[in-house]
Amino acid sequence: MSVKTQESQFAKDVHLGLTSTPKTLSSKYFYDQAGDKLFQSIMAMPEYYLTDCEFEIFNTQAEDILNEIAPNRRPFNLIELGAGDGSKTRVLLRHFLKSGVDFTYCPVDISAHILEELESALKDEMPDLQVELLAGDYFELLNERIGKFEGRNVFLFLGSTLGNYNEVKAQEFLSKLRAGMRPEDQLLMGVDLKKDPSVILRAYNDSHGITKEFNINLLRRINQELGADFDERFWKHCPNYDPQSGEARSYLVSTKPQKVYIEATDRSYSFEAWEEVHTEISKKYSLSQLERLGQESGFKVIKHFLDCKHYFVDTLWRPV
Ligand code: AVJ
Repeated sequence: MSVKTQESQFAKDVHLGLTSTPKTLSSKYFYDQAGDKLFQSIMAMPEYYLTDCEFEIFNTQAEDILNEIAPNRRPFNLIELGAGDGSKTRVLLRHFLKSGVDFTYCPVDISAHILEELESALKDEMPDLQVELLAGDYFELLNERIGKFEGRNVFLFLGSTLGNYNEVKAQEFLSKLRAGMRPEDQLLMGVDLKKDPSVILRAYNDSHGITKEFNINLLRRINQELGADFDERFWKHCPNYDPQSGEARSYLVSTKPQKVYIEATDRSYSFEAWEEVHTEISKKYSLSQLERLGQESGFKVIKHFLDCKHYFVDTLWRPV
């Protein structure tokens, strides 16, 4: 996709979101350069337990994971959906390399630029790692390239990225992925679990305001890329957590009646005092809900890999 069509998709989505009732802006647009940096700061903060838990699981159970995905050290392809900076994956990669198993790491991302950065970082750190970059849309690549690879494909979908989908969307996503998998393939997915609601809320409402910045940055991005005039002084970051739906939800709330003009859509959008704009859901599952989700999208659980507090799971699935 060219920069231009991406921009107009961004403008279209922003317009659609701000003319819906209730108003929304999609968290998928959080990740410009500033957003990537802020997310790295989030991962480094103690309140954001998700990253620490997944590190713990990989640091302590990489060998058990390898035994499931490569019995008898059979060669495989490790295909990471939405690789990002790959920091957690590196723990697995280092362990797999040390074990001498023959595998190829295939990070998938829509951004070729991000993939090239990842590749050069990996080259320095693990010169023996076999890497094949896959730039483009997951599902197009799945049907055109990945489905034709030799050997088992092990898909990685880490870091609770699935949580950004509600249950209906999650099932849609997993069923689509399932459709592109062969019987011998596997999926290792990092999912955040239900736990003490105050622990969850703190992860999305940190005392240093980094998560607030992460949400407000979306308004800055709209200002910069779409020529809008959001004034961030009049927006508040308001996250909540509902234990029944398991959804942590983030909102930006307008602190006064205001109008915002966006050049790219050539329109003004009105906000009432205390009107909310929904920006993100981060859904938490119980293990039984997760198993049901797997069943409904055509998978069977092979094994759950849990951290010691049972806050987080990397769950290994196979198609049925
Ligand atoms: C990258 C989607 C897993 O939902 O926990 C972190 C993003 N949002 N803090 C999450 C996020 C606020 C994160 N995911």
